[in-house]
Amino acid sequence: MTDKTRNLDEITPKYFDDITKTIFAPLHPVVARQIVERCKIKKGICIDVGSGPAPLAIALAKITDLKIHALDISEEMCRLAEKNVETEGLSKKITTVTSDVHDMPFLDNFADLIVSRGSVFFWEDKVGAFKEIYRVLKPNGRTYIGGGFGTAELKEKVTREMEKTFPEWKKGVKERLGKNTIEAFKDALNDAKISNYDVINDDSGLWILIKK
Ligand SMILES: C[S@@+](CC[C@H](N)C(=O)[O-])C[C@H]1O[C@@H](n2cnc3c(N)ncnc32)[C@H](O)[C@@H]1O
Repeated sequence: MTDKTRNLDEITPKYFDDITKTIFAPLHPVVARQIVERCKIKKGICIDVGSGPAPLAIALAKITDLKIHALDISEEMCRLAEKNVETEGLSKKITTVTSDVHDMPFLDNFADLIVSRGSVFFWEDKVGAFKEIYRVLKPNGRTYIGGGFGTAELKEKVTREMEKTFPEWKKGVKERLGKNTIEAFKDALNDAKISNYDVINDDSGLWILIKK
C-alpha cells in the first residue's frame, strides 16, 4: 500500500487482502470472540458466508474446534483465503468454497453455525439468501450475520485509517447501509418465513442471530 489517496472502486480482492492484514486486522479476533460468547457454539460445522480472504474464519478457527467452510462468490477471494489458511497452518480446520449464498452446495440441516461479516449488504435477493441459509442451518443451529467492527473504538480507528487512503470511505459505508436498515432485514426475514431471531444493534455492529 502507498500513501496516495484512492477511490473505493480500486479495492480489488488483493488490495482487500492487504487491508485485512493491516488496518482491519485487530477487529476479526474481537468479532470472533463475540460470536462465541453470543452463539455459544464452539464445535461442529460452521460456514463463513462472504468470507473474503477468510480473516473471520481464521480468527474463529483459532479459538474453537469448529470445522469451517469459508465460502465466497469470488474465485480470487477464495484463492487468497486458501493461501491465508495455509500460512496460518489451519488447512485441517478451514476449507474454501467458491459459491453464491443464494445457492450453496450444502445439504439441508448441515451447519451448526453460519456467520457472515460485511457481506449481507451485497446480497441481491435477501429473502432468497435467508431462505437458503435457513435450509442449510441445523435445527438448534445459530447464525451471526451482519456487519460491524466489534467495538466503537475499533470502528473509529479503522474509519480514521481508511479515510487517509479513501476520502470517500465514510460516504461509501453510509450508502451501503442506506437501504440495509433493520426494518428491511426484518421484512426480508419475515418474507423468508423466519420468525425465531434476535437483532443486535450496538457498538459491536448490526447482527442477525437466527435460531432454527
Ligand atoms: C466486505 S467483504 C467481507 C469479507 C470478510 N467477511 C471480512 O470480514 O473481511 C464482502 C465479501 O462478500 C462476498 N460476497 C458478495 N456477494 C456474495 C454472494 N452473493 N455470495 C457469497 N459471497 C458474496 C464478496 O465477494 C466479498 O468477499
